[in-house]
Amino acid sequence: MAEPLLHVQDLTKHFELGPGRTLHAVDGVSFTLAQEEILGLVGESGSGKSTLGKTLLGLLDKTSGTVTFEGETLPQRYGARDHRRLATRMQMIFQDPYSSLNPRMTAGEIIGEGLRLHSKPSEAALRDAVTHWLEAVGLRAEHAGRYPHEFSGGQRQRIGIARAMILEPRFVVCDEPISALDVSVQAQVINLLAELKKDLGLTLLFIAHDLSMVRYVSDRMAVMYLGSLIELGPSDEVFFRPKHPYTQLLVASNPEPDPALARAPRPTMSGEIPSPVNLGAGCRFASRCPEATERCRQETPLLKPVEAGNGGGPRLVACHLYP
Ligand SMILES: Nc1ncnc2c1ncn2[C@@H]1O[C@H](COP(=O)(O)OP(=O)(O)OP(=O)(O)O)[C@@H](O)[C@H]1O
Ligand SMILES: [Mg+2]
Repeated sequence: MAEPLLHVQDLTKHFELGPGRTLHAVDGVSFTLAQEEILGLVGESGSGKSTLGKTLLGLLDKTSGTVTFEGETLPQRYGARDHRRLATRMQMIFQDPYSSLNPRMTAGEIIGEGLRLHSKPSEAALRDAVTHWLEAVGLRAEHAGRYPHEFSGGQRQRIGIARAMILEPRFVVCDEPISALDVSVQAQVINLLAELKKDLGLTLLFIAHDLSMVRYVSDRMAVMYLGSLIELGPSDEVFFRPKHPYTQLLVASNPEPDPALARAPRPTMSGEIPSPVNLGAGCRFASRCPEATERCRQETPLLKPVEAGNGGGPRLVACHLYP
């Protein structure tokens, strides 16, 4: 297999909330991404998906762990120069198209800013690049002079995509790129991302709530619970044959698009996701797991291969049910 594009090892991000109160947003996450691969990342709200994406891009300082990208170990915390240098290689499309665009900048300024800072192009070259990317994401040249509030949610997300793409990065974190959008425009934005991925040979970390969407777009799927990855494998296998009890419940509670099947009774997740503050030992899911034993409450299971998988890489599960 070719050298992975991205290698994440034991990545951890804690937020210190006050004396003796540590929030474990991301806790010892490891995975690799091959070139041009799409890895889907799913998990309930608050499980740490956005924090993982931001920490891995250096938008948040790491608490510990390493990120290796194209063979280079990235700095523990980024300075302004690191941000500028790495912006040409790694980018993020943000979760909320409403708060992630500066309301005082025009669409053209927002899209062009990265290029302007990076290579100080002439005004004409900058305008050409902005026009190119406006059109590439399905907007028009005259949109450059408008402000974010003059656009719909779907159009704003297109501006966010153009902003991420203008430096032609190799790797992009797409953080729930469609969840804030109307259903009618979700498919358009997904198709746009799929086209850009193909044309530019992008590698993507695709974060979403909707498992069937993630299954549709990604080669492999990772499931996150309370800051840790608990299952990872080829998307179809994880979706159709989930192994971790949490993934099984997540798949079962995924909205069923077929109304005939939707009427069948389905298992539901019991209990709330516990607080990520001051987490102790043991499996994070033990308090809600129908299969939990004493061992699960004492000993943290590691994410490890339990099966070879069907060509798309091994199946990894963090669960004591799988010896
Ligand atoms: N800047 C911060 N300071 C303190 N806690 C934070 C900060 N950012 C995130 N958190 C906490 O970290 C945990 C993970 O949050 P995160 O936003 O990464 O989850 P998520 O999986 O992206 O959720 P969602 O699906 O709702 O977007 C949550 O408990 C959140 O409250
Ligand atoms: Mg998020």
